[in-house]
Amino acid sequence: MYEIKKIDDITSLNNFKSKYLGKNSVLCFYFSKLITLEISERIQCSVFLNSCKKKIQDKINYKKKKLQDNQLNQQKNKHFLDCTLPGRKIEKGNLHPLTVIINEIKKFFNYLGFKTFYGPEIESTYYNFDALNIPNDHPTKSMNDTFWFDINHVLRTQTSSVQIRILEKYSVPIRAIVPGKVYRRDYDHTHTPMFHQVEGLIVDTSISFSHLKWILENFIVKILNKNVKVRFRSSYFPFTCPSAEMDIQDKHGKWLEILGCGMVHPNVLKYCNIDSNTYLACAFGIGVERIAMLKYAVSDIRYFFENDIRFLKQFYNSEKY
Ligand code: DAH
Repeated sequence: MYEIKKIDDITSLNNFKSKYLGKNSVLCFYFSKLITLEISERIQCSVFLNSCKKKIQDKINYKKKKLQDNQLNQQKNKHFLDCTLPGRKIEKGNLHPLTVIINEIKKFFNYLGFKTFYGPEIESTYYNFDALNIPNDHPTKSMNDTFWFDINHVLRTQTSSVQIRILEKYSVPIRAIVPGKVYRRDYDHTHTPMFHQVEGLIVDTSISFSHLKWILENFIVKILNKNVKVRFRSSYFPFTCPSAEMDIQDKHGKWLEILGCGMVHPNVLKYCNIDSNTYLACAFGIGVERIAMLKYAVSDIRYFFENDIRFLKQFYNSEKY
C-alpha cells in the first residue's frame, strides 16, 4: 500500500490498477486456479480473493477521487479572484487644449449675439480666393502655400471662405463666427500644415472700425484672463479695406500678431449682392493656436498635435466633458 501512496497522477494509477487487478495480475492468476480446488476450499478462497480485490479497488477509487479533487483545486487556484485587491483606475479623458480655447471663443461671441457656422474644408477656389477679391497672382495662391486638389479645389487656407457662403445664404444683418481647420504648406515651431482659425463677420447698417476694435480688445482680455497691451497695426488683406492686424505684448515686451481684421471690401459685398452703400461689414480671423500658445506659454505649436499624453495632461481639469 506504500506504492499507491506515492502515486500522484491518473496514468500511474491506471498502471497500478492493471498491475494488481488486470489480466496478468497475481490476483487474476489465483482466481483462475480456483477451479482446481475442492468445492469447500474453493468457496473459502474465493471469498478471500474477492475481499482482497475489493480492498484494492476501494483504495484505487479513493486515490482516484483524491487526484481529481487536487486537479480541480489547482484549476480553481489558477483563476483565483482576490476581491481585496485595489481596483485598476480608469483614467478619464479631457478635452484637447485647442478645443477648450475654441469653446471659450465661441462662448464669448455667442454671448454677444454671434451665431456659429461651419463650412467645408475642401473648398472651391471661388470661395477660398476669387470671391474674397484675391487676385490670381496673389502669393497665397502659389503651389508653395496651398494644398491643391485640382485646378478648382483646395484644402481651404482660411476660414474667410465661409464669409462668402454666409453672405450668399443669409439675409443681413449678420453676426457670425466660423471656427474650423485650415491648411497651409508650412512646418516649423510656429507653423503646422493644419491649424485652427475662428472667423468673425458682422454686417449691419452702421458698423464701423471702432466697433471691431472694441469687440476684439474685450475679447482678448476675456480669453487671456488678464489685461494685456494691444496694438492695431495697419496691414493688407485683399478682402478688407482698411485692414489691420492685432498684436499683443508678451511679458518680454515683444509684440505678437494674433489676428487679422478689417472692414469688408466693397467688392466682396458686391459679389454677394449686398448693397455696400446701405450695409457695412467688418471681419476678423483669429489664430487659435497663437492664442493657446500665449495663454499656456507653449513655445512650439507642434506639441499640440503630437498626442504626447505628458503634454496633454498639463491641461487636465481646465474643462470637463
Ligand atoms: N484670412 C486671414 C488669414 O488667414 C485672416 C483675416 C484677416 C481674416 C482679415 C479676416 C480679415 O476676416 O478681415 O490670414
